[in-house]
Amino acid sequence: MSDYTLEVHGCHHYDATGAISEPIYLSATYRHPGYKQSTGFDYGRVANPTRTELETVLACLEQGERAWALSSGMAAINMVFHLLNPGDHVVLSEDLYGGTVRLANDIYKKYGVKCDYVDTADLEKTAAAIKKETKLLFIETPSNPMMRVSDIRALAKLAHENGALLAVDNTFLSPHFQKPLTLGADIVVHSATKYLCGHNDIIAGVIAIADAQSDYGQTLDLYIKSEGPNLTPMDSWLLLRSIKTLGIRVERQEKNAAIVAEWLKTQPNVTDVYYVGLPEHPGHELHKSQATGFGSMISFKVKTPELAVALLGKLKLIAFAESLGGVESLLTYPIAQTHAEMPKELLERTGLDDRLLRLSIGIEDVEDIKADLEQALNA
Ligand SMILES: Cc1ncc(COP(=O)(O)O)c(C=O)c1O
Repeated sequence: MSDYTLEVHGCHHYDATGAISEPIYLSATYRHPGYKQSTGFDYGRVANPTRTELETVLACLEQGERAWALSSGMAAINMVFHLLNPGDHVVLSEDLYGGTVRLANDIYKKYGVKCDYVDTADLEKTAAAIKKETKLLFIETPSNPMMRVSDIRALAKLAHENGALLAVDNTFLSPHFQKPLTLGADIVVHSATKYLCGHNDIIAGVIAIADAQSDYGQTLDLYIKSEGPNLTPMDSWLLLRSIKTLGIRVERQEKNAAIVAEWLKTQPNVTDVYYVGLPEHPGHELHKSQATGFGSMISFKVKTPELAVALLGKLKLIAFAESLGGVESLLTYPIAQTHAEMPKELLERTGLDDRLLRLSIGIEDVEDIKADLEQALNA
């Protein structure tokens, strides 16, 4: 089935009622027909029918063997970091979500996991950062918020040659536009709070994996069922409902983003525009070779930090808020929000400064988005 069909219909099997919408199973526990007999559902932490339907759809969309729906994107990333042992080393993209940096530096460091941040868009630099203790490469592509593009195929090869796993945070594109497992990655994570949900109304996370029988697949299974970071049945259903419109949402958002990115380039108060859909973006061609769409995340710099701050207070339609991927356009000020706790050295290396703003383009009429930005930029 094509993604559009899979997104709408899922793997849904009609129950006795013929319900078109997947039922929400709120039962915490399940009756056994007899001793050593099971319907496949025993206890809600281990499996819930609504969540299982969602996980099956997610695994199919990412073309992986298995997926888990968890309570947040950070819960998903945390589970991936659980695969590491004291003394292990991780190479991470130097430009990535600030919460991932906080998890690595403030929590896993104390358990003896060592992390290095490199520009993973630069293969040589990434290869040079690998040590014999390196067990994981963790990347975002396009990266957050500087939109750097890393070569998933080449990084998967590099990781495997060195006995490490490649994990890709695929939040910015969703599986509708990019499927890292088909390019050699072992693990995909999502903040499903973003495009997969698309309506800014739930916090959720996803892990999808290439090989369910692998050591890492079995370990994730053990840790997830033991620790219980799973998504609730109600939120699983909301996410299933959201995924029905994933394709049409992200494609309209992308169409809007392409227009806004070109328009931003013409604005006198805008000095730089970072959007992978722009032909002059340094990662444009590589991105096209590994994704089917450019997404709708745009970062841009204005002339002065004062202008950036003033603009935030002038917006009328676009909300100044954290997060991304919803049908509503949002503007984020990364240095004060998503990346506020980023070490100064990483901010300097990546160029994330106080003139940078990050736009998540929604599905509104693009003329209204441009009009709001124009009045705020020129107020
Ligand atoms: C790229 C990326 N990964 C992970 C996360 C964390 O996800 P959550 O907020 O759902 O825990 C975020 C949140 O903004 C994100 O932008």
